[in-house]
Amino acid sequence: MANPQKFLVTSALPYANGPLHLGHVAGAYLPADIFVRYLRQQGDDVIFICGSDEHGAAITIKAKKENSTPQAVVDEFHELNKQTFQKFGIEFDLYDRTSSEHHHKTAQDFFLNLYEKGVFEKEESAQFFDEEHQQFLADRYVMGTCPKCSHDKAYGDQCEKCGSSLSPSELINPISTLSGKPPVMKETYHWYLPMQKHEAWLRDWIENGKLEGVQQHDPKKWKPQVLGQCKSWVDGGLQPRAMTRDLDWGVKVPLEGADGKVLYVWLDAPIGYISATKKLGEQKGFDGEALWKENDRKLVHFIGKDNIVFHCIIFPILLKLHGGYNLPDNVPANEFLNLEGDKLSTSRNWAVWLHEYLEDFPGKEDELRYVLTSILPEYRDSEFTWKDYQARVNNELVAILGNFVNRALVLTHKYFEGKVPAAGAQNKEIVEAIGVAYSEVDAGIRSYNFRQALTEAMKVARLGNKFLADTEPWKLIKSDETKTGEILNISLQIAAHLGNIIQPFLPNTAKKLLGFLGLDANAICRNAFEVLKAGETIEKPSLLFQKIEDEVVEKQIEKLNASKAVQNTVNFKENTSFDNFQLMDMKLATIKAAEKVKKADKLLQLKLDVGGVEKTVVSGIAQHYSPDEVIGKTVLYLSNLEPRKIRGVVSEGMILMAENAEGALSFMVPEKDFESGGEVR
Ligand code: MF3
Ligand code: ZN
Repeated sequence: MANPQKFLVTSALPYANGPLHLGHVAGAYLPADIFVRYLRQQGDDVIFICGSDEHGAAITIKAKKENSTPQAVVDEFHELNKQTFQKFGIEFDLYDRTSSEHHHKTAQDFFLNLYEKGVFEKEESAQFFDEEHQQFLADRYVMGTCPKCSHDKAYGDQCEKCGSSLSPSELINPISTLSGKPPVMKETYHWYLPMQKHEAWLRDWIENGKLEGVQQHDPKKWKPQVLGQCKSWVDGGLQPRAMTRDLDWGVKVPLEGADGKVLYVWLDAPIGYISATKKLGEQKGFDGEALWKENDRKLVHFIGKDNIVFHCIIFPILLKLHGGYNLPDNVPANEFLNLEGDKLSTSRNWAVWLHEYLEDFPGKEDELRYVLTSILPEYRDSEFTWKDYQARVNNELVAILGNFVNRALVLTHKYFEGKVPAAGAQNKEIVEAIGVAYSEVDAGIRSYNFRQALTEAMKVARLGNKFLADTEPWKLIKSDETKTGEILNISLQIAAHLGNIIQPFLPNTAKKLLGFLGLDANAICRNAFEVLKAGETIEKPSLLFQKIEDEVVEKQIEKLNASKAVQNTVNFKENTSFDNFQLMDMKLATIKAAEKVKKADKLLQLKLDVGGVEKTVVSGIAQHYSPDEVIGKTVLYLSNLEPRKIRGVVSEGMILMAENAEGALSFMVPEKDFESGGEVR
C-alpha cells in the first residue's frame, strides 16, 4: 500500500429549516461519504465533519410563520437530519450544530482575531427595513420589478428572468417579502471584508495553486466548472462584503455597541467546520484546531455549486488572514439534481425527502446510493426519475450484481455442500481484469469521478456474470466435477473482490456479501487473487436485491404529483345561472387620470373614460401600480356595482384584476387594440 495520507473532509452544513432531499444527498453528502469510506478502507487517516447550519433569516422567518421560535425550528430539523444521515449510512465523525455555545465562542474568537488585525472596514449604509417586522431585509427578501427586463418578481440580489445581478435599491416598486409592504430605507453600519485587497494572491492561488506558507494544490485536478466560476469572479473584480448583519438570531458580534448585530453566514457556517473539529478533538483527545494546520493534511470541501464562491474565495481569504490554516486542496462541487423534469424545490414541495424514502423503502439504502451515484451531477445537472430508479435497480443491481453473487453461492451449495472447491490453474484474464478494476476505482474516487468509479466497480460483477454464462458450470457438472469446482472457485474469488470493491458505494451490500463468504473487508488483499481458501464453508445466501415492481414506483410518482396538485389548488365556486351572469355589466374602460388616495397606502383614485362617459373608481392597486404607470391603459371595468364611498370618494364600480399565487395583481387588458366602452360578455 502507498503511504497513508491525511485528509480533513467537510460536507456543506445543511440549513436546519427543513428535511433533506435527494438533491442535498447527491450534491454534498453521498460523494463525500464514498470518498471517506474508500480512503479509510485504504488505510488513510480521514476526519469527516458536518453539522446543521442553524442561523440565517430563513430560519427566523419560518419560526415567525409557524408561531414558533428559531431554536424550536432548528432543534426539530437538526435531530431529524442527524438521524436521517445515520440511517442512510452517511457516517460523519461528528454532526455538530451552529447554535451551540462552543460554536458561538469559536466564531466570535475567529472574528475578533481578524478584527484585531484590522482586517475589516466599518461602513455606514442605508438598507431596506421592514417596519412591520422591525427587521432589516436580506437582499433576497426584497422583491420588485427588474430595471432591466421589467419582470415583476425580481429578487433584491438577482432577476431570475433575465439573469442580471441586482442590488435591492435598483428594484422598481420594491416590496418586503415578509410583510408584502414597501420597505423603507434606514441607516445602519456593518463590518466589511475588502476582498479586492486580496485579489492578487487569490488569483495566483486559484490559477497556479501556489501560496507562500500554504500547501500547494493542483488546479488541474479541480473541476473545470469550479475553476471557471472562481476565475470569472476574480476577473470580474472582487468587492467588499459585509461580514455582519442586523438580526437577533445568530452569533452576536463580540464588540461594544454592536447590539442587534450577528456574524453573517461567511463568518458563521464555515467556521462551524472548525468548531466541529475542535469538539471532536475534545471527545477523542486530539487538538482539533491543530488538525487544520497540519502541513500534510489535505482539506476537501464537498458542496453544491451554489456554494463555490463561498468556499473557494471568501473562506480561503478568511483562513489565510487568520494565518496558519490550510486552504482547500480541492472543492469538488456538484451541479444540481433535478427531479422528474423539474427543479427540486423545498418551498414548492417538489422533492423526494430522504427520511420519507427510508420509511417507504426500508432496507433499500444501497439501492438509492447506487442510483444516485450513477447519476451524480458531477459536471452538469442531472435528473432523478422513479422509472430510472426502477430500471437501474432491476437491470443492474438485481440482474447483474445480485444474480452473479447468488448463482456463484447457490451452485457451491448445490454441488459442493457449501465448501469452497479446490482451485485449478489461474485464469490470467480474470486476475488482470480485477487488478484493473481496483486501480480504475482508485483513480476515479481520488479524482472525484464517482460515477466512473462505480461503473468500474460494476465491471467486476459483469465479469463474474459473463464468466458463469461462458463456462456454464450447471452443465459441466454432469461431465467434469473437478473442472466445475475450479470454475466455482474462481467465481467465489471474484465475488469476494466484488464485495471489497463495492464497499464504499454499497456498504450494506458489501457487508452482507462478505458475510456470506465469512470474510472481513479489511482482510482482503487487493493484490492476491485467492482470497478464499479451499474447504472453507460459505453461508447459504439470501438475495442481495429484490426487483422493484411497477406499482411501487407508480405510487411514488403519484405521491409527487399529489404534492404538485396541492400547490396548484384552484378553488372553483359553485355554479351560477346565465341570467345571474348577465346581471353583471362589464365594459372596457380607459384610465385617464390617477392619483394616490391620502393616508391610504393601498388605494388609487382613477378617472375612467367609458365610451365617452366619465366615471370615478377607487381601486386597491397602489402597491402594484404607480399612478404614472396606469394612465392610458384600457382595462376591464365592472360598472354596475352599487356606488360606494371609500375615504370620502364615491367609487362607481370597480376595475377587475387578475391575481397570481404570490398575490401580485395585474390589469386585464384586451388582447386587440379595442376602444373604451366595448362590451365584455
Ligand atoms: N447552509 C448553507 C447552505 O446550505 C451554507 C453551507 S456551506 C457552509 O447553503 F460552509 F456553510 F457549511
Ligand atoms: Zn430582469
